[in-house]
Order: sequence, then C-alpha cells, then structure tokens
Amino acid sequence: MKILFVCLGNICRSPAGENVLRHILTQQHLTDRCSIDSAGTAAWHTGKGPDARMTTTLQKRGIPVTGKARQITPADLESFDLILTMDDENYHNVLKLKPSDAQRQKIQKFTCYCQHHSQSEVPDPYYGGQDGFDLVVDMLEDGCQELIQRFLTSRD
Ligand code: 4NP
Repeated sequence: MKILFVCLGNICRSPAGENVLRHILTQQHLTDRCSIDSAGTAAWHTGKGPDARMTTTLQKRGIPVTGKARQITPADLESFDLILTMDDENYHNVLKLKPSDAQRQKIQKFTCYCQHHSQSEVPDPYYGGQDGFDLVVDMLEDGCQELIQRFLTSRD
C-alpha cells in the first residue's frame, strides 16, 4: 500500500505524518506493508527539510525525521492508494488537480482516522507555539494507529 500525507508547505504536518507512520510501522515490524511519502499543495519550501520546531518535537518522542519538501503533482493521484489531507484547504487544493472518480475516492481527510481527537482538521502549527506542534503529533499518532489497524495488519 502507498500512502501520501499532504499539507500546505510540506515542512510541518505532512512530513510529521510520514515520519510518525514509518516509526510505528518500524516498531511493529510492518514496514514491508507500506511505502509512505508526503507533499505540499504549495511549492514554497521545495527541497527543504522539515521545520526545526517539528523536527525537535518528533525527536523528543524518539521519532527519527527524514524527508525533503516537494509539491504534490497529478501523477501522485494515480500512484498512491491513499492521499491524506491535513485540513480542509489542503483537501480542496488537491481536488483542484482534477482527480478522476476513482482517484477522488483515495483523497481523504486524515482526521477521519483519529479515534481520540474530535477536530475535523489537523491545525496548521506554523505561526503558533510549541503546543500546536505537540497537538499535531498527538493527532498524527492517534490516526496512524487506526490506519495501521485498518489497512496494514491483516494477514491476507
Ligand atoms: P505545513 O505548515 O503546511 O504543516 O507544512 C506550514 C508551513 C509553511 C507555511 C504555512 C504552513 N508558510 O506559510 O510558509
């Protein structure tokens, strides 16, 4: 299965999603079940690594951080099985890439997978404080556990 996390800049939320999911899969010896990437709807930060504040927040939880920002392309709509957007603006921007009906089914809001957070969006932490970064990672850990349960642990 191929999963793409999508946010605006691809330096805070979506690379965090990619690294959180990869870390949990590594701990559970499930890395062969899934390939994971992330992208932004904007190209502003292309080539940059994740934001230093997000990197620190992840590393404090023992989560290794890798990745370089890139912009989502129409080809991603075809090559990924699940395209998970962080907020409503990301979701609508991905729809502007004009997915086919089949591709549209693969574009989903990440928060649909959260079991312990009721917010409908993963809030953009970029202009806020540390609390925002912690909340993003809390939500990502929550939803990623559910993604694994739902798609990556069956032995079929
Ligand atoms: P992200 O956060 O979408 O979670 O990567 C942001 C990163 C950069 C900006 C906004 C949000 N920015 O305005 O540059």
